[in-house]
Amino acid sequence: MSVLHPPPSRTSYRSDSITEYLKSTNVQLGASYNVAQQSTDQFDAGMEAAATYMNAGVDDIGIDSVPPLNLVMLISIVQSAIGPSTTQLFSNLAQALEFPPNSEIVISSIDHEANISPWVRAAKARGLTFKWWTPSNGLTLTAENLRPLMSDKTKLVACTHTSNVLGTIHDIKAIADEVHKVHGAMLCVDGVAFAPHREVDVKALGVDFYSFSWYKVGGFIISSMGSSG
Ligand SMILES: Cc1ncc(COP(=O)(O)O)c(C=O)c1O
Repeated sequence: MSVLHPPPSRTSYRSDSITEYLKSTNVQLGASYNVAQQSTDQFDAGMEAAATYMNAGVDDIGIDSVPPLNLVMLISIVQSAIGPSTTQLFSNLAQALEFPPNSEIVISSIDHEANISPWVRAAKARGLTFKWWTPSNGLTLTAENLRPLMSDKTKLVACTHTSNVLGTIHDIKAIADEVHKVHGAMLCVDGVAFAPHREVDVKALGVDFYSFSWYKVGGFIISSMGSSG
């Protein structure tokens, strides 16, 4: 059986550019001196490249009913965020979002732990209701089996694009449309098992948050989150 590895030229290009960044320009971002400006430009270029890779939007995502903080603020400005892992990005997101009292969160029970624990923790910490979304139709998440779980209190739905255990691919566009029928409800999608096999287009999917990990697509241990805007 043949094993796919990234071509050596691309691997060394990536490690060379990271080494060069760390050696020459790894200083604080946003400062006025020359090297800081160079560093900021390179960092911005990386963020932009990540956003382009997943076709993340550039407009404000307009989460008016959920006051944005930290990471969410960052996403609302540049439409993408970079973090050490998808687990960490979802965890940051869940901590950063504020939910009105009595909000409900719907969590797919066939997800990777990365997109489950942060929402369970967030719901418990804030005294919110969370509902398990367990599909009864051969383990595929659909807009139809989500619908009975949605209410006018739903503020967030968390699910995976592709199950890393079952291999099922979910119709995220249809699920996003279903979620957005409820005013202020957002969809957070784990794309880690999808990204190595298909092109990611968060705009076409219409999702609010979508994350995948670069080490699954031949990159380094770093992850990106984007939004459709
Ligand atoms: C489907 C899925 N989601 C999330 C993760 C976690 O990704 P990370 O290691 O970037 O936190 C994995 C890891 O294998 C995964 O398979």
